[in-house]
Amino acid sequence: MISNEKVSVLFVCLGNICRSPTAQGVFEHRLGKAGLDELIATDSAGTGSWHIGKAPDERARLAALKRGIDIGHLRARQVSPADFDSHDYILAMDESNLADLEAMRPPDYRGTLDLFLNFGNDPGQREVPDPYYGGDQGFERVLDLIETAADNLIAHIRQQHLEP
Ligand code: 4NP
Repeated sequence: MISNEKVSVLFVCLGNICRSPTAQGVFEHRLGKAGLDELIATDSAGTGSWHIGKAPDERARLAALKRGIDIGHLRARQVSPADFDSHDYILAMDESNLADLEAMRPPDYRGTLDLFLNFGNDPGQREVPDPYYGGDQGFERVLDLIETAADNLIAHIRQQHLEP
């Protein structure tokens, strides 16, 4: 582990107001249910700077709330090279986010930089589609994809880092 205390996961999208705060909220909710919130830290960030300091998009907030998850307290920030010093997993929502992160990756980064949906169930669905310019069903789809990958990621981290 990069920090000695907790496994740390950073979710990254473009704006940090739709997909990655949703991923952070869902993942934290699942960690709480599994009793793992003391062992795994979570954060999210955007590759872009437009929405720094903003709360999640209202549509993302309401879609998550319908599933019992409140992400309203989260605030957008931009990813920085220092994030590679503190996160064991840096997980991108789409290929474009991943390419931006690869360009920023220090050569000695020892963690996992990957697409989040590499932990999904469908090898044909590698990206969480950007819902920003679409309708409400885009946000439901985002949540469906994220819920599955979050459960699989927790199982993976348990196996890799938390089991004797
Ligand atoms: P996100 O969605 O990357 O999932 O937060 C977007 C939010 C804002 C923009 C694009 C995508 N935008 O162009 O402002």
